[in-house]
Amino acid sequence: MKVKDLNIRRIGILTGGGDCAGHNAVIVGLLRRINQANQTLPVDEKMELVGLLEGWKALTKDSGNTVPLDLLTIEDSFKTAGTILKSSRTNLFSKANLEAKAPEKAMEVLKKLNIDCLVVLGGDDTLGAAGKLGQQYTFPMFGAPKTMDNDVYGTDMTYGFESSVEESVHFIENCRTTARSHNRCFVVEVMGRHAGWVALWAGIAGGAEVTILPEEVLNLDEVIKKVEKTIAKKQHCIVVVSEGARLFDTRYPEAINKRHQELLNSVINDPKYALVKARHEMPKKKDSFGNEQLGGIGEYIFAILEKNTKGFEYRYQNCGHAIRGGVAHVMDRILGLRYGDAIYEFMQQGKFGVYPGLEGDKIVPRDLLEVKGGRFVPSDHQLFKMRNAADFI
Ligand code: F6P
Repeated sequence: MKVKDLNIRRIGILTGGGDCAGHNAVIVGLLRRINQANQTLPVDEKMELVGLLEGWKALTKDSGNTVPLDLLTIEDSFKTAGTILKSSRTNLFSKANLEAKAPEKAMEVLKKLNIDCLVVLGGDDTLGAAGKLGQQYTFPMFGAPKTMDNDVYGTDMTYGFESSVEESVHFIENCRTTARSHNRCFVVEVMGRHAGWVALWAGIAGGAEVTILPEEVLNLDEVIKKVEKTIAKKQHCIVVVSEGARLFDTRYPEAINKRHQELLNSVINDPKYALVKARHEMPKKKDSFGNEQLGGIGEYIFAILEKNTKGFEYRYQNCGHAIRGGVAHVMDRILGLRYGDAIYEFMQQGKFGVYPGLEGDKIVPRDLLEVKGGRFVPSDHQLFKMRNAADFI
């Protein structure tokens, strides 16, 4: 069934989950094609793109929450990160929202807004919800895989990743000049939830002596040795830590978990690290999809290193959200524009319920119902073995 057969005129678009570079590029990429088509379409067949504000939240409000999208007004937005449509982590399928019949309500709001087709930009949670909704209500849905974490199934790369890497590298390099000037070791934490791609790429590109990933079996005694070696040779050092890295894991040999507990205790029992202890004891927050709010592992590693390698100065820096914002770097501009363009193509071909994935240099349609997270760094990946510059000095 083609767009014409389905009579798709008003296309809704929303962005869900954490923002990142490239969202605006997808919107612009799709709008460019709609505008181009409108140049030759008869008046009663012209299409329009309508922005739904704050992700799925827009569809929980009776009136919806929409904004018209005009290419000349938003044409430059693809050069910046963030999302011009705003975002939220609303989960239409959470227990509370299912009880409140949120999916049904979302469909009513779409109907009220005369939206014929919905394009959803997000990570696996957002895309998964689009798949379910589209299937349950036989509604034409499309998605695009975002996330700075680069962890969405079905694509070699998500948009948002490359810009976050560039920003992280910039951050690491800034830390390097001051680290070198003062003979210090900086522990730099970067976001990326449970997949270590950002830390891996940024650590290597930024020349970090040690890069710690969620995917590895962490051995802090080995990290201490690498840091001491680096300090002996260079008098300064950078350790990059992915926020999803863990001190303890059921995957680790028992002896490692035990040793890490000793190292952690040595820190939290020291009054000098009272703040680390306080943060350690704080209850962990979760978002509406059940994802734990991460952040702070770098601080433990900083404290453990400081306590266990004598006579050297340490600093801890958490890049936090800053690496997700600012400029959209070239790769994300291009990838986002390609995804937007591809969505239009899929629409024209009547391929509903899909999102574009990058496979080599090709864009291929992927089924929204098959989307999932957890595209992790494999331990046999070339970069995995290259991640610690300290191994090579
Ligand atoms: O969108 C993914 C992500 O950037 C993760 O890397 C990070 O753990 C999380 O979002 C942070 O979420 P929030 O913006 O809700 O604090």
